Amino acid sequence: MRWMPFAGAFAIAVLSLAPPADTLADRSFAWHMVQHLTLFFVVPLLLLLSRPFALFRSVAGKATTARFVRATRPLHFAASAPVALVTAIAVLWGTHYSPLYESALDVAWIHASEHALYLLAGTLFWLPVLDVPPLRPNPYAVRLFYLIVALPQGALLALALNAARVPLYPHYAAVVPMAAALRDQQDAAAIMWIASGLVIFVALLATMGAWAARENRAAVAGTVLAVLTASFALRASADPPAPSYADDQARKGQTLFYRHCAECHGATLGGHFGPALAGGSDNVRWATVSYVWQYITAHMPAGNAGGLTQTEYLDVMAFLLESHGRPAGKTALTPRAALESKAYFGP
Ligand code: HEC
Repeated sequence: MRWMPFAGAFAIAVLSLAPPADTLADRSFAWHMVQHLTLFFVVPLLLLLSRPFALFRSVAGKATTARFVRATRPLHFAASAPVALVTAIAVLWGTHYSPLYESALDVAWIHASEHALYLLAGTLFWLPVLDVPPLRPNPYAVRLFYLIVALPQGALLALALNAARVPLYPHYAAVVPMAAALRDQQDAAAIMWIASGLVIFVALLATMGAWAARENRAAVAGTVLAVLTASFALRASADPPAPSYADDQARKGQTLFYRHCAECHGATLGGHFGPALAGGSDNVRWATVSYVWQYITAHMPAGNAGGLTQTEYLDVMAFLLESHGRPAGKTALTPRAALESKAYFGP
C-alpha cells in the first residue's frame, strides 16, 4: 500500500464533490466537466496507484485473499482492454450527450449514481494499462495500442458538444442567458478535449517510458516509431476533405490573381513583397480553408482590402486550392463552404 496516492485520491475526491466545486458545477457545464473528468480519470488512477490489493491482502490474510481471487476470477473479463474501453466510451457519451445529463442535474440520486459510475468506469478504464494484481498485466504493446485508441475519444465527444448551436441542457440555460449557456457549453467541450487528451497522452508517455526501462531500447524505439507513423496516418485520413470548386472558377481566379495579387505574391505564388502562398515554403498550407478565406476577404489585396467582389474572392480561393494540389470537383465553391471548411489548405 502506498499512502501518498491514496491520500491524494481521497483529497481530490472530497475537493471535487464538496462546495465550492459542487456549487459551481450546479451552475456551469464547464465546472461540471472538470468535476466529472476528475472523478473519471484522476481519482481512480491515484487509487489504483496506491496498490489497494496489497492493503487488502495484509488485512484479509492469505487464505481469504486466495478465496477472493478465485471467486472474482469470472469478473476479470470486465477489465479486458476492449470491454474497459467500450464501457468508458459508453459512460462518457451516455452521461454527457443524452437526456440522462439533464435528469442528473435535477434528481439527486441519479446525480450520486452518476458519480459512482464515473469512479467505476474510470477504474475499469485504467486497469488494462496498469499492473494491478491479481489481474494479469497486459503486454506493453497492447497497453500502448489501447491508449492510442482511447486518445481521440474525448475529442470526438467534445466535437459533438461544440457543434451544438443551442444549449443542450435547459438546466443551465435557466440560470444564465442563453448565449452565456452556449459559451459555457463550448468551454465544457474544450475542457473535455484538452483534459482527456492530456491525461491519456501523459499515460502514453509513462507507458513508453516504463517499457523502455524494461525492454530492449531498439525494439521499443521501433514500435514507438511504428505507432507514431500509424497515428499520423490516422490523423491524415481523419482530415475533413477540402471543399469542391469548379474548374472555371480556378481559371478566372488565376487571371484575377495576376491582376490583383501577383505584384506582391509573385506570378508563381513564390512570394515577392508579400509572403509565398504556395510551393512548400508558404504558411498557407498550414492554415484551414476557413481561415484563409476569412483572411483574404478581410485583408487582401493589401492596401485595397475588400477590393474584390465575393465572386472574385471565391475564384481566387479556387485558384489557391488548385495551386495546392486540390483537384477541381463537380460543384462550385460557395462562400458558406469556404467559411465552414476545417480542412487544411495544403496536402
Ligand atoms: C500590396 C501587396 C499585396 C497584395 C496586392 C496582396 N497581398 Fe497578400 N499579403 C501581402 C503581405 C505583405 C502579406 C503579409 C501580411 C502580414 O503578415 O501581416 C500578405 C499575406 C497574405 C496571405 C497570408 C499568407 C501568410 O503566410 O500569412 C494570403 C493568403 C494573401 N496575402 C493572399 C492574397 C491574395 C489572394 C491577394 C489578391 C487578392 C493578395 N494577397 C494581394 C501583400 C499583398
